[in-house]
Amino acid sequence: MRQASPKAPSDDKRWRMIDARIRRLGSSPDALIEVLHTAQEAFGYLDPETLAYVGAALGVPPSRTYGVATFYSHFTLKPQGKHTCVVCTGTACYIGGARGIIKRISQDLNIGPGETTEDKRISLLTARCIGACSLAPAVVFDDDVQGKLSPDDVMTHLEQL
Ligand code: FES
Repeated sequence: MRQASPKAPSDDKRWRMIDARIRRLGSSPDALIEVLHTAQEAFGYLDPETLAYVGAALGVPPSRTYGVATFYSHFTLKPQGKHTCVVCTGTACYIGGARGIIKRISQDLNIGPGETTEDKRISLLTARCIGACSLAPAVVFDDDVQGKLSPDDVMTHLEQL
């Protein structure tokens, strides 16, 4: 009999999206790549906590979960920057101005999505939907979800990190 599902690491709504995906795929070890993909779309990258949670939920040993995440170049493990800035590019956020936010960050910090500033202070990432559509456009600064942001607001947040 399958073990009870592990408890999500936090109340972050994104875990609910990942849990829903896990359930839809039958909590099977075969679903590992698909669920990691969903997790990366939600968080922008896969940190050790996410890898551990997904592995436990699917009954996959940590060595295999980590092995798959490092093998496929599509997956991004914890970015190099001291801080992460994940700009949501899901439909609601895209319509709400995500493109302008990314453009501004790229211009001001000279980095594109998936890149880290030269001083290693900030990594810019994108995610497909972070579960905060009513706050569109939403950005996650480290673990802090902020919404209804203008490009100026985003730059102010980044300066304060
Ligand atoms: S589309 Fe951005 S939070 Fe859902």
